[in-house]
Amino acid sequence: MSLEADFARIAPDVRLGENVAVHAFVNLYGCSIGDDTRIGTFVEIQKNASVGRRCKISSHTFICEGVAIEDDCFVGHGVMFINDKYPRATAADGRPQGERDWQVVSTRIRRGASIGSGAVILCGVTVGERAMIGAGAVVTRDVPAGAVVAGVPARVRAGAAACAGGCRE
Ligand SMILES: CC(C)(COP(=O)(O)OP(=O)(O)OC[C@H]1O[C@@H](n2cnc3c(N)ncnc32)[C@H](O)[C@@H]1OP(=O)(O)O)[C@@H](O)C(=O)NCCC(=O)NCCS
Repeated sequence: MSLEADFARIAPDVRLGENVAVHAFVNLYGCSIGDDTRIGTFVEIQKNASVGRRCKISSHTFICEGVAIEDDCFVGHGVMFINDKYPRATAADGRPQGERDWQVVSTRIRRGASIGSGAVILCGVTVGERAMIGAGAVVTRDVPAGAVVAGVPARVRAGAAACAGGCRE
């Protein structure tokens, strides 16, 4: 592990692979990070999230509980993941919502996919292998392997393919 930052907070329950680079003001807890992955400044990764090997997670990105990012993925700056489609601050009886009051909806980013800066990935979706998500896209549905999607909501761009390295799906 290379920790360039004195101010990164890595909780004791984080499973860090070999040669992981963590930059300043990163907050990691209860997650796992694979070998040779790089994590930029101001990234937060929550418990029960996983990031594979050789990934690049750019600054200001939020990876929440229930997100699984496979090997070789690129995540741009300020990418937001979501794990609760209908969030509430309080339960029906008015008390602050706790963990028992809602359920995490998981998301999977398959091997080699890239997510452009500022994208929002709604929960419950799978982004296929080596797919490419445009900057600023809002992904609301599964993205096929090798597809290039952009826009709000994200739609497949006709004729564009991001699968130069070959896809398994
Ligand atoms: C989506 C993307 C891969 C498309 O690249 P491309 O195929 O070369 O697309 P082009 O630049 O030729 O643009 C083609 C059309 O798509 C539109 N477009 C391109 N990117 C878009 C985006 N992110 N959202 C909405 N529309 C987009 C263009 O305006 C253009 O529209 P037009 O034909 O009506 O003029 C790319 O623009 C992108 O967003 N990449 C992510 C970059 C990023 O976030 N990097 C992070 C690290 S810096």
